[in-house]
Amino acid sequence: MPRSFADANGDGIGDLAGIIDKLPYLEWLGIDAIWLTPPYPSPLRDGGYDITDFTAIHPDLGSLDDFRLLLDRAHACGIRLILDLVLNHTSVLHPWFQRARWAAPGTPEREFFVWRDDERGYADAPVLFRHFESSNWEWDPMAGQYYLHRFLRHQPDLNYANPAVEEAMLQVVDFWLEQGVDGFRLDAVPFLFEAEHSRCEGLPETHAFLRRLRSRVDACGRDVLLLAEAIQPVRESAPYLADDELHAAFDFALTAHLFAAVAHGRCDDLLHCLSHAQEMVPGCRWALPLRNHDELWLGDGHLVEQSVIEAILNGFPEGRDHWLNWGINRRLAPLLNGDPRPNTLLHGLLYSLPGLPCLYYGDELGMGDWPGLRDRDANRTPMAWTRAPNGGFSTAPDPLLVLPPITAPGFDYRMVNVEVQQQLSGSLLNWHHRMLTSRRLLPALRHGDVVWLESGHPGVLCYARHCPECQDGDAPQPSMTVVVAANVSSAGASTQLELGRWQGSRMRDTLWGCEFPAASDAWFVYLPAYGFFWWLVGE
Ligand code: BGC
Repeated sequence: MPRSFADANGDGIGDLAGIIDKLPYLEWLGIDAIWLTPPYPSPLRDGGYDITDFTAIHPDLGSLDDFRLLLDRAHACGIRLILDLVLNHTSVLHPWFQRARWAAPGTPEREFFVWRDDERGYADAPVLFRHFESSNWEWDPMAGQYYLHRFLRHQPDLNYANPAVEEAMLQVVDFWLEQGVDGFRLDAVPFLFEAEHSRCEGLPETHAFLRRLRSRVDACGRDVLLLAEAIQPVRESAPYLADDELHAAFDFALTAHLFAAVAHGRCDDLLHCLSHAQEMVPGCRWALPLRNHDELWLGDGHLVEQSVIEAILNGFPEGRDHWLNWGINRRLAPLLNGDPRPNTLLHGLLYSLPGLPCLYYGDELGMGDWPGLRDRDANRTPMAWTRAPNGGFSTAPDPLLVLPPITAPGFDYRMVNVEVQQQLSGSLLNWHHRMLTSRRLLPALRHGDVVWLESGHPGVLCYARHCPECQDGDAPQPSMTVVVAANVSSAGASTQLELGRWQGSRMRDTLWGCEFPAASDAWFVYLPAYGFFWWLVGE
């Protein structure tokens, strides 16, 4: 969230120059890419997802020149830049909408958006922001008609049935490709087309458009990642990963199952969810989020079964008190009650499961949140860099800050910040740095295939990641196998792993290099509460 990351010009708002200043930190941390939430001009009624100009930078954040500089500097650090692309809607203040509301019905200008004479259309499409809106339609007195908005009423849905809309948005894509971006996170991608008697999610027309988008992107001849944000069950998000469509998609069902596993200390449903995603789309194309700038979306029983939602709410009673729209509006660390053990367990899984692990800024510190702030702002407060005023985020007087820095007990920025944690060898931040460094050195974790192994304990998830001999960048890599075991329960687990297929091979813990007994078909191991290991198998 550029507005909350680092403020370089001292106006109280994070900016692109602030991100440039912090690139050495991000490089040290060990990330591969930055996902930038929408940096475009916007009245900020929805955190910048309500856009008035798709091909410019919000003046609070800097200029296009700053953006190009950020790209160059990030590339020089080996970090790629993924831009949020909001295809589904604009702001009501976008010139396209202003033009549409005054244009005569039926004209191409008017048809940039979806209009009706009453608000009865698409009745099966759920209201997504149900704490803010009670209908997907809003009356526009200028137009004398209702317009469709799947999100806030300030965000009218573009009408993709109008070919001029498609072309206009593909030109936006061309524009950012020319700037040199490395990929797009396609926001709210299921909702582009509508049809009666459906939830208006992932319709065939939407997939057809995405294939045309993919060809347009391929035409630029560079490696560009297309990542879908589709908060849908895997059977519905898998089609976005057809070979001629998108490269990656978030697996939000997995996020819910990870929390549910920790909540009830069992991993059978989690294993089922993981193996189902691999059956649908094998390999590393699922993006794995734990938390992000939105609420922890659990849904209405469509994304995951009601029993999974109940397990989470029973395990994290906090969740019931901070329910927003369709999920829990809290950051990771407070949701886990400040306990670093489930925190490292969950990230340890994210960093070793097949897919693209996503780390939300501040979660590497166990940063807290400010419940009670408007909408999802609770999770979007300034990054805590140092013990200095405003957590080193900005030199502005605090009333000017974009959001208040965290001073809540247990999460106060004077304690929980980058400067302090870099100095403490046992800190969460140094743990993330070590894990990300290890992951870089273990190609099996980054692009290996996965085999689920019998763990013999209901709380222990066990799997092996394997990659054959390969070329990893410029370096030849020998074949590699890493076995992972993770105890999702709050009690220690003594168990027997079935490692017969590697009979007699060396087993070394990758983090500390400790030698374990050689692999066997009845390999005993003890995992402390929320403990986990990554073992390198063989030489
Ligand atoms: C983004 C949200 C945003 C919504 C509407 C999403 O899914 O992550 O932050 O409010 O799309 O653009």
